[in-house]
Amino acid sequence: MTSDDSLFASAKRARDKAHAPYSSFHVGAAVLDEHGHIHMGCNVENAAYPEGICAEANAIGSMVTEGGTRIRRIAIVGGKAGKGLETCTPCGGCRQKILEFADNETVIILEGENGQRRNFKINDLLPESFRL
Ligand code: THU
Repeated sequence: MTSDDSLFASAKRARDKAHAPYSSFHVGAAVLDEHGHIHMGCNVENAAYPEGICAEANAIGSMVTEGGTRIRRIAIVGGKAGKGLETCTPCGGCRQKILEFADNETVIILEGENGQRRNFKINDLLPESFRL
């Protein structure tokens, strides 16, 4: 098993816990931090729709809570409940959230249809980004 395999396994485990009764789109994310620790998150929707939280946001919140400060790699998996994975590129807000803890070495890894994997740098997904 490669280190990406185990990161995807964590993302899939998180996805199994998704609370997504409104969209039926289940997402899981797993962050590998600078200490080598893995932090997981799933999407958590709410009857008041805008209050829902993305999987990436929850994984990043968990990382920060547990003392991680940098994202080395983040694996993201998503797809309709009970169906196969579809490549789930992070939403705009999550790209900005990843950027906060990313650098040029950070890799965003996605697994989609038929186990197909794609790797991105944050600058691919969020060029000309806002920074203070
Ligand atoms: N979702 C995520 O968790 N991450 C993303 O990057 C894209 C979208 C969630 C939000 C919502 O619960 C569901 O997927 C459908 O949009």
